[in-house]
Amino acid sequence: MTEKKLSGAGLRGQVAGKTALSTVGISGSGLTYRGYDVKDLAENCEFEEVAYLIFYGELPDSAQLAEYKSGLKTRRGLPQALREVLERIPAAAHPMDVMRTGCSMLGNLETETDFSQQLEQANRLLAAFPSIICYWYRFSHDGVRIDTETDDDSIGAHFLHMLRGAKPNELHERVMNVSLILYAEHEFNASTFTARVCASTLSDMHSCITGAIGSLRGPLHGGANEAAMAMIENWRSAEEAESEIMGMLERREKIMGFGHAIYTESDPRNAIIKGWSQQLADDVGDKVLYPVSERVEAIMWREKKLFANADFFHASAYHFMAIPTKLFTPIFVCSRLTGWAAHVFEQRADNRIIRPSAEYTGEQLRAVVPIAER
Ligand code: COA
Repeated sequence: MTEKKLSGAGLRGQVAGKTALSTVGISGSGLTYRGYDVKDLAENCEFEEVAYLIFYGELPDSAQLAEYKSGLKTRRGLPQALREVLERIPAAAHPMDVMRTGCSMLGNLETETDFSQQLEQANRLLAAFPSIICYWYRFSHDGVRIDTETDDDSIGAHFLHMLRGAKPNELHERVMNVSLILYAEHEFNASTFTARVCASTLSDMHSCITGAIGSLRGPLHGGANEAAMAMIENWRSAEEAESEIMGMLERREKIMGFGHAIYTESDPRNAIIKGWSQQLADDVGDKVLYPVSERVEAIMWREKKLFANADFFHASAYHFMAIPTKLFTPIFVCSRLTGWAAHVFEQRADNRIIRPSAEYTGEQLRAVVPIAER
């Protein structure tokens, strides 16, 4: 293979379309949503403000935000047929498969029949996704049928309330807001590109989002936060973490939660969620997981010049909020749905079916030998 072809592997560095939604790594480490720095948004906004920004193009004023949030609240309920499907999915199932099935089932019950419904569909999914995952989780693990129509003010609080059966404190609600903001949108990443390819065939919203969930499931993408947790929870001290990581690097194993396909200097989301993880560590009196995480980060930089991406400190942050590891990636879904749906809107507004070409590496043209002679 030539050098040119190798550098194009994974479509890296190739412009595959236009977007007005976000910029990723333009100055090496930046991330903006519709012209706003993600740090600015994470410091000053609630997740619903950012969802509104992504869907409608501008930040809402307080009256628009109040109306938007109350509209989302009314869309939290799940149809009986969907609840029945969720009840049949075993506790051992992967929660990302539950999300995929939940989204697809909703597509059967509330099918998008016309693109004029796209915003309504996106807001419905935004409101319903936390209900879907928590309804299944609580039924399959605790045997309870929860009421998903809570009066919680935010999507983050709604999620934690359903999961724990009690309203979260202010710190946890704030961290959920920040986390959902950080995960909301990220240009042409694998799952978003999946959604756009599906949208380019003029398919329906649920098909686009269901496909995107499948892409996000993999450990090289959204699954990295769970994989990072599975790794760091094994270590009882920073010293143990250091010797284990050195061994993994020697064996050329991938360390989940590090590296990025686009960012070259750092992932701007990392410093933000790391700060909150530290605050949560103090809150719960942690003396192990946070120091282990910090040591892993330092070694990865020292040995490989690889920086922690958004997923790494999300692992400890979620863990300190007592969120089960297997629900980490579904939370990512509840957030990234905003980016996916907005990309579907964009693709539909200026569409041409996405159909690249392949470099053929197979056999030269040959004649079929009759079966009796083979
Ligand atoms: N651990 C160890 N080595 C890593 C690494 C990691 N997390 N990420 C990259 N590398 C190594 C690669 O193996 C490669 O080494 P090589 O040249 O000797 O083969 C080198 O660093 C360059 O990799 P790069 O081309 O930058 O990676 P990519 O663009 O193909 O892939 C990721 C990017 C994110 C898929 C990759 O960094 C990864 O798999 N990270 C772990 C999973 C993860 O955290 N995903 C979430 C992303 S937000």
